[in-house]
Amino acid sequence: MLQIKLDLEQVYGFIPKEKILSFEKPVASAYRHIYHKTGPGNDFLGWVDLPSDISDQFTAQIIDHAAELQSKSEVFVVVGIGGSYLGARAVIEALQHHFAPMGFTSGKPLVVYAGQNISEDYMTDLLDLLDRKDYSMAVISKSGTTTEPAIAFRILKAHIEKKYGLLEARKRIVAITDKSRGALKQLADSEGYASYVVPDDVGGRYSVLTPVGLLPVAVAGADIKALVEGARMVENYSRAASNIHGNPIAMYAATRQALYQAGKTVEVMVNYEPRLFYFTEWFKQLYGESEGKENKGIFPAGVGFTTDLHSLGQYIQEGLRMMFETIVTVDKPKSQLAVPDANTDLDQLNYIAGKRLHEVNRMAELGTILAHVDGGVPNIRIRIPEINAYNLGQLIYFFEMGCALSGYMLGVNPFDQPGVEAYKKNMFALLGKKGFEEQTATLRRRLGI
Ligand code: PA5
Repeated sequence: MLQIKLDLEQVYGFIPKEKILSFEKPVASAYRHIYHKTGPGNDFLGWVDLPSDISDQFTAQIIDHAAELQSKSEVFVVVGIGGSYLGARAVIEALQHHFAPMGFTSGKPLVVYAGQNISEDYMTDLLDLLDRKDYSMAVISKSGTTTEPAIAFRILKAHIEKKYGLLEARKRIVAITDKSRGALKQLADSEGYASYVVPDDVGGRYSVLTPVGLLPVAVAGADIKALVEGARMVENYSRAASNIHGNPIAMYAATRQALYQAGKTVEVMVNYEPRLFYFTEWFKQLYGESEGKENKGIFPAGVGFTTDLHSLGQYIQEGLRMMFETIVTVDKPKSQLAVPDANTDLDQLNYIAGKRLHEVNRMAELGTILAHVDGGVPNIRIRIPEINAYNLGQLIYFFEMGCALSGYMLGVNPFDQPGVEAYKKNMFALLGKKGFEEQTATLRRRLGI
């Protein structure tokens, strides 16, 4: 059953439902591009059938491999950036104990991340941790040539080989990369690392349901079968309902497009559960890299409430009116905790004594929705009954399909990322890479260095 409910009641005051439904044809055309592979980037549509393509045998193989890695690791390092780490992190952090880094890991390895930045201090602290812990790692790069994870892996490879010796180190490294191209594939073959393939037709940000996401998630102890099953449900649902009527994915994409055309150029994803922080990060990457091109696209942002009601909340309430909010809301928490009664009532909270924290959180949510709507910010609400692997699988596919539909409706290729090259070229030139000599001189002059 589709667990996701889309609530557009707090959009209709800005954009009438008929206006959203008037996107029926663009939605149908975007769906045709996706299912008939006729749109730009059509060689990157492998994610569409991915959930149903993943066999039980394959997930079982990943679970077995994860168990072997778990048995010898207190820490598991995921080396990757962008789509090669955010999906795994989104799922792992949504499902694990909030204080997993303090040891609440149910006996499973703590998953940590490397290669998602180039900070010397971060890497040094990570090495400090790895000096003290038994660990293994997955190096994940589809291209195998991305600078950030390549630097991190160079350092970690030397560390793990020194710590365990060459033969054992090789058993503790897993490479997840393209099937034939790239330096990482060559290295994995020559060193004999266990390896998995990122399918050619699945781009980084759509790859969470490949070994890129599944292996780290399984090592963290989460239920990857349920994750895939949830995504599969929405895959089938979307295929059967591939038009705007009664289809929340299509309605979400159409609403975004209608809001964008009405000048709402920023989408703020909101959550009231800190465990969804990295889900928002995954969403930002998925939508930002897919839509932001040719000088168009909605800028995806994110906030965690009620925390950010005491910071960005002010802007959302009263700043420039160019945004809408998309709330991912969770009906039921895992636990139960109420506000205690206090004899003195100095803080004047006895009026909510006995109420569950979730009830207070929910009233904060509902109150904020009305305040922001009154302040001119349309609110889309996406509800799930609870956070679990199955529902996360549903959300993942919901947002992937919503993103592809949105990209095609916007008239861009949602599967490329040409803009990412600009910073790389400048960085290479400034670092003095061979072949960039001319740019090196120009950039250095511009920077006065
Ligand atoms: O979505 C994408 O394609 C990117 O964000 C990539 O995932 C990211 O740049 C990392 O690329 P790679 O896996 O080739 O190292």
